[in-house]
Amino acid sequence: MRQIFVVFFAAGGIFIALASMALAMGKVDKRPRSPIYGVTLPEGYRQWEFIAPAQEAPPLDELRVVVGNVTAMKAYRDGKLPFPDGTVLVKLAWKRAPSSEFAPASVPGAATTVQVMVKDSRRYAATGGWGFGRFINGKSADEAQHRTCYGCHLGNVKDHDLVFTRYAR
Ligand code: HEC
Repeated sequence: MRQIFVVFFAAGGIFIALASMALAMGKVDKRPRSPIYGVTLPEGYRQWEFIAPAQEAPPLDELRVVVGNVTAMKAYRDGKLPFPDGTVLVKLAWKRAPSSEFAPASVPGAATTVQVMVKDSRRYAATGGWGFGRFINGKSADEAQHRTCYGCHLGNVKDHDLVFTRYAR
């Protein structure tokens, strides 16, 4: 009888410990999440590998850089489509500014947005396997803006797994 109680209390203790760990883990991740998709700014993306630059004409008049995580870079190098689950692409953007040291040259001005695409074919099955996030000063943009992402990517690059950017060699 005593042994049964010991086992019972030990099991209860382990259960409580695991439950509080799970709760704590849920609470630790307070990073802003995009509406609809729940995408966050990935850790360390500023150190990721460079895929290609882009530029948008006025009125937006921006300079952009697209970077990818290890999974994304492997898929690019292997020329593999669709991108595998775990692929993350990040696009950083700045206002284009003339260089104060040499006017014909353009340099990054104020940072505007950081946009994220995360591949998870099950979780985002309804949007071609991609989850989208748009961040301004580290905060997520609103739901209306997130309603536009899938449509434009699907409408223009359906045959390239919804990804515009090609690897710049
Ligand atoms: C009207 C069209 C349009 C809309 C809407 C749009 N994008 Fe894009 N997106 C582009 C284009 C074009 C590129 C290629 C790079 C560039 O020109 O800036 C791009 C590139 C990207 C990239 C780099 C990977 C790739 O596909 O090249 C990410 C990440 C991204 N967009 C995220 C988003 C998110 C998040 C949203 C919604 C908040 C969004 N996009 C809405 C047109 C669009």
